[in-house]
Amino acid sequence: MKIKIADLEFEPLINEDLIIERTKAIGQQLNADYLQSIPVFVGVLNGSFLFIADLIKQINIPCEIAFTKLASYYGGTTSKLKIRDDIDLMVDIKGRDVLIIEDIVDTGNTLHYLIDKLKQREPASIKVCSLLLKPEALQSPIEELKYVGFEIKNEFVVGYGLDYQEMGRNLRDIYKKVE
Ligand code: XMP
Ligand code: MG
Repeated sequence: MKIKIADLEFEPLINEDLIIERTKAIGQQLNADYLQSIPVFVGVLNGSFLFIADLIKQINIPCEIAFTKLASYYGGTTSKLKIRDDIDLMVDIKGRDVLIIEDIVDTGNTLHYLIDKLKQREPASIKVCSLLLKPEALQSPIEELKYVGFEIKNEFVVGYGLDYQEMGRNLRDIYKKVE
């Protein structure tokens, strides 16, 4: 069923059941991959808040959870080169295994910015888990991107934490913009 948010129309792309199923599989992979350490999961607000919550519930190894807040869209539907750094990470990550949790990787600018910033703090490792990836939009490869929920086309999406003009974050499914 199509929905309207502000001036745009959206149609269903990925439903809640599929998101949960994929999240469980990624969680199991993380439980195995981080068995030997106590990782720090770094959630990137706002868009990933539901994914962080659902993913973290699948984790059964000791871990810490921290947050940072970045913005690159400022309410529109295209990614901006300039990144706004709203809230910095409050934990010391020196010598720690860090896993960044993102909602979506588009051009990759946000992640490159965050990875460069966190690397200066000398963590033992940095990897990234993103629910969504737009491979056609990615401007340069991100070596640290090890876990991806779904690859999608270069289209604007909302729901399950993702917004258009700050609305639509509450939707249980992911929707794409009707062209
Ligand atoms: P970049 O281009 O830096 O963008 O990889 C990543 C950030 O931009 C936001 N983003 C989106 N938000 N629908 C959204 O609601 C989208 O289709 C979309 N694509 C990118 C998001 O905040 C992400 O962290
Ligand atoms: Mg985001």
